[in-house]
Amino acid sequence: MWLMVVSVPLLPAIVMVSSRYSVKVSALWSRALNWALRLVRGKVCVRSTHAFVFSNCTHGKVDSVLETFDLYAATHPSLCISPQTGEAVDEAVRRVRPSQVLELGMHCGYTSVRLLRLLPPAGRLITVELDPLTAEMGEEIILVAGFRHSQFQVLTSSSAEAIPTLRPFLEPDQGTSEGLNLVLMDHDPQEYLPDLLALEREEVLCPSGCSVLLIHRNQRAEDLRGILHHIRAKPDCYCIKSEFQFMTEIFYQKGNVKVDSKI
Ligand SMILES: *[C@@H]1O[C@H](CO)[C@@H](O)[C@H](O)[C@H]1NC(C)=O
Repeated sequence: MWLMVVSVPLLPAIVMVSSRYSVKVSALWSRALNWALRLVRGKVCVRSTHAFVFSNCTHGKVDSVLETFDLYAATHPSLCISPQTGEAVDEAVRRVRPSQVLELGMHCGYTSVRLLRLLPPAGRLITVELDPLTAEMGEEIILVAGFRHSQFQVLTSSSAEAIPTLRPFLEPDQGTSEGLNLVLMDHDPQEYLPDLLALEREEVLCPSGCSVLLIHRNQRAEDLRGILHHIRAKPDCYCIKSEFQFMTEIFYQKGNVKVDSKI
């Protein structure tokens, strides 16, 4: 009762404030709704992609796993990278021949399998996935493709939490490099710049060179603005190696970049 008594004189003010902010509030709502929809759709997509690949591929055969993914993506909406982007990733992996690879965002394990099949015998993949269900299903697909736990490690956490814990996984071993020599970012583009800064800060990038592959699915310019600005501001450490429609490759080298820069 007292609430009504108090709020009646305040009514004009309440109406004014809420109409003033209603635009902001509704924008917030639609963002929250979009986020929730993406989350649900993401889960459904992961489940159905996993079921399709698991039951239709030949277990133990990498090529069959990748073909089955491509078959699924050709007929269903899918979060996996397109075969063309996959070929650009393959080209980078063949050129770099990385021994320590970090993947941020594993979706259904498609890119993880693609990366693992091209690594040298001592090569290792660390893959970071925020969503536990996606991480679990992705890991199962990697095993279905015939890879062993000694070749990869799945970390189920946000990239921001995972990066400071990477060092123990990167102890130089026989045949491996001193730090990461390939990083593939395919998670939330908002995290690309903070994660690159964290990788620099933690000194986990191989000082003699690391290729960073940035996957961009849409709104390329907007997604990459922050990170490209950072790269251009540090020409002594970074250059842009190549730019495709769905992927940009940057090259990091501590102190001195010798690769021709396209900027
Ligand atoms: C396996 O593939 C067939 C034919 O493409 C498809 O109809 C079926 O739904 C797939 N299995 C699963 C579990 O998705």
